[in-house]
Amino acid sequence: MEKNSKSKILLELAQKYLASIIIISYFGAFMLMFYGFQAYWTHYDQTSVPQPIAYSHYKHVTENDIPCDYCHVYADKSKHAIIPPLSTCMDCHEGDDSDSPELKKLLKYWNDKTPVPWKQIHILPKHVYFTHKRHVKAGIDCVDCHGEVRMMDTPRQVSTLTMGWCVKCHDLHGASIDCYECHK
Ligand code: HEC
Ligand code: HEC
Ligand code: HEC
Ligand code: HEC
Ligand code: HEC
Repeated sequence: MEKNSKSKILLELAQKYLASIIIISYFGAFMLMFYGFQAYWTHYDQTSVPQPIAYSHYKHVTENDIPCDYCHVYADKSKHAIIPPLSTCMDCHEGDDSDSPELKKLLKYWNDKTPVPWKQIHILPKHVYFTHKRHVKAGIDCVDCHGEVRMMDTPRQVSTLTMGWCVKCHDLHGASIDCYECHK
C-alpha cells in the first residue's frame, strides 16, 4: 500500500515534469522558428558598415524591382561583380529634386565629379583566386553566397569566406578542390 502511494506520487511528479518539458519545447521551437524566419525574411537595417550614402538594397531591389545585374553588371562576365559607378545611379536620379538628404549627398558627389568612396564588405586575401563569372554561369545564385541582400539595406557578410566554406561547396557540386585552382 505504502509503496503504491509513493509510486503514485512519483508518477504524478513525472507527469507534471513532462507537461512542462512539452510546453517549454513547444515554445522553444516556436521561438526558434520565429527568429529564424525573422532573420531571413524581414527587412533589417544594417549599420555595422556605415557607408558614405545610405543606399538601400531593400528599397531598390524589393520595393522598386531593380534586378541585381542592373548595377552589378559584371557578375556573369568577369572576376568582379563591381560596385556600380555614379553614372548608373544617374539613370534614375539625375535632376532628382527630392528632399532626401541622402539623395542630396549623391548629387553632390556627381556634381563634384568624385566617385562615392563605398567601403567593400567582402574581401578575400590576395593569395586566393576567385571569380564571379564561373560561379554565376554555373547557376550558383547570389543568395547562396551573399544571403538575402534584397531584404537588407547595406549587405552584410553572411558567409565565412574561409577555405572550408569554398571547399565544402565544391565537394557538394563536384567542382575542383585542387589547391592550384584557388591558389594560382
Ligand atoms: C560562389 C559564391 C559567390 C556567388 C555565387 C556570388 N558572389 Fe559576390 N562575392 C563572393 C566573394 C567570395 C566575394 C569577395 C571577392 C574578392 O574579395 O575578390 C564577393 C564580392 C562581391 C562584390 C564586391 C566585390 C566585387 O567582386 O565586385 C559584389 C558587388 C558582389 N560580390 C555581388 C554579387 C552578385 C550581385 C552576385 C550574383 C549575381 C554574386 N555576388 C554572386 C562570392 C560570391
Ligand atoms: C532604375 C532606377 C534607379 C537606379 C538605377 C537607382 N535608384 Fe535610387 N531610387 C530609385 C527609386 C525608384 C527610389 C525611391 C524613391 C522614393 O521612394 O522616394 C530611389 C531612392 C533612392 C534614395 C533615397 C532613399 C531615401 O528615401 O532617402 C537614395 C539615397 C538612392 N536611391 C540612391 C541610389 C544610388 C546610390 C544609386 C546608384 C548606386 C541608385 N539610387 C540607383 C531608383 C533608382
Ligand atoms: C541600384 C543599384 C544596385 C542594385 C540593383 C543592387 N546593388 Fe548591390 N550594391 C550597390 C551599391 C551601390 C553597393 C555598395 C554600397 C553598399 O555596400 O551598400 C552594393 C553592394 C553590394 C554587395 C556588397 C559588396 C561588398 O562586398 O562590398 C553585395 C554582396 C551586393 N551589393 C549584392 C547585390 C545583390 C545580390 C543584388 C540583387 C538582389 C544587388 N546587390 C542589387 C548597388 C546595387
Ligand atoms: C555555393 C557553392 C560554391 C562556393 C561557396 C564556392 N564555389 Fe567555387 N565553384 C562552385 C562550382 C559549382 C564550380 C564549378 C563551376 C563550373 O563547373 O563551371 C566552382 C568553380 C570554381 C573555380 C573554377 C575551378 C575550375 O575548375 O576552373 C574557382 C577558382 C573557384 N570555384 C573558387 C572558389 C573560391 C576561392 C571560393 C571561396 C571563396 C569558392 N569557389 C566558393 C561552387 C562554389
Ligand atoms: C575552393 C578554393 C580553395 C581550394 C581548392 C584550396 N584553398 Fe586554400 N584557401 C582558400 C581560401 C578562400 C583561403 C583564405 C581563407 C582562409 O584562410 O580560410 C585559403 C587559405 C589557405 C592557406 C592560408 C591559411 C592561412 O591561415 O592564411 C593555405 C596555406 C592554403 N589555403 C592551402 C591550401 C592547400 C594546400 C590546398 C589544397 C589541398 C588548398 N589550400 C585548396 C581557398 C581554397
